[in-house]
Amino acid sequence: MSEMNAGVSGRGASPLGEEIVGRINRLAEISEAPDNLTRIFLTPELRAAADLIMTWMREAGMSAHLDAIGNVCGRYEGERLGLPCLMLGSHYDTVRDAGRWDGPLGVLTAISCVADLNKRGRRFPFAIEVVGFADEEGVRFASTLLGSRAVAGTFNERVLASKDSAGVSMREALVQFGLDPDDIGAAARTRGQLLAYVELHIEQGPVLEARGLPVGVVSAIAGATRLAARLTGMAGHAGTVPMALRQDALAGAAECIAAIEQLCRADEGGLVGTVGYIHAMPGATNVIPGKAHFTIDMRAPTDTHRNRAVTEMVRQIEAIAKRRKLELQLDVTHENRTVPCAPWLKAQIAEAAAAEDYPVFELASGAGHDGMAMVDIADVAMVFVRCRGGISHHPDEHVEVADADAGARVLLRLIENFRPRLAG
Ligand code: GLV
Ligand code: MN
Ligand code: MN
Repeated sequence: MSEMNAGVSGRGASPLGEEIVGRINRLAEISEAPDNLTRIFLTPELRAAADLIMTWMREAGMSAHLDAIGNVCGRYEGERLGLPCLMLGSHYDTVRDAGRWDGPLGVLTAISCVADLNKRGRRFPFAIEVVGFADEEGVRFASTLLGSRAVAGTFNERVLASKDSAGVSMREALVQFGLDPDDIGAAARTRGQLLAYVELHIEQGPVLEARGLPVGVVSAIAGATRLAARLTGMAGHAGTVPMALRQDALAGAAECIAAIEQLCRADEGGLVGTVGYIHAMPGATNVIPGKAHFTIDMRAPTDTHRNRAVTEMVRQIEAIAKRRKLELQLDVTHENRTVPCAPWLKAQIAEAAAAEDYPVFELASGAGHDGMAMVDIADVAMVFVRCRGGISHHPDEHVEVADADAGARVLLRLIENFRPRLAG
């Protein structure tokens, strides 16, 4: 992290911020659960959200369509039709019981910026595209970044066979959503069509708030490894099998989870590990669990550090399974390298922030983002907006109107002053 210059803040009206927050609240009403926000890949709620976002895109002067994986794609032409684009965006799916800002803030801010440019009749020697990616969170199927991978042309067709917890395959879910699974290749874009990919996102951590800053320039997006663990022991009668003779898969999983926590706590270099899902079978009070499935998410500031930690964690889990006579199946379901933001784009974001009189500050992203997939076809960069209390993936996630406005001003200034990188 580094302070790159100092500036002033303190503002009056926040017209862009007010529009963005109004729409964030409207979009948050679209949820599968009556009392919390849950909007998952390829569900009717995702479709309803897509329709609303496309309406806002068209009102902003863009053409809009749904692509072959369910991404919402808006395009604002440049001085001539068909020019390469500056691509902006984020995702519009959510985790379960989510906050309303993670993802939609980047999509809706970009749309409000385009609407403002359109009102002023501004056109550029490049087009602007805004994408709302359909699956960044990876809640429904084991894999993640499905929307941005389709756009980057790196979607792995094998994941079409993966099933959600209700046994519905991704292929079936796409058909139910009205999409053709064999057409996903059509969502792919090429390097020549994109000048850059820039994503604005809520920080999801406490750093900007602690420094009293509304916006930040992201230096890099930390990589992650996700695994699915399946332990198989022997189900049995809770009253009759002596403790020493049990092969309790859930007790084994509990020991593994404690070992993962211990490994990460003992690390002083920023290693984090999470078991966010566990399922025990057969799942009855008086039956010893014969099977336990759980997920693992491991992240660290560098790839070397993360890879070393994953190797050690696997060694420990294998040892626990062996000692408890449990069969272990461990699969890597997602692996993403750390992605540095492009220096030339970071410099233009820093210039835009300074021009808006916001202090310029660089920080790393511990959370994953669609830029991790987009980097395969474009240079990427990110703008972070302050998050109240550092709380995210939680309904209390919050951004102040003035901060939403600050993010929009920086993004707008970036677009208006954008200079594509010269070839060579
Ligand atoms: C996405 O929110 C992630 O970092 O898991
Ligand atoms: Mn996000
Ligand atoms: Mn998220």
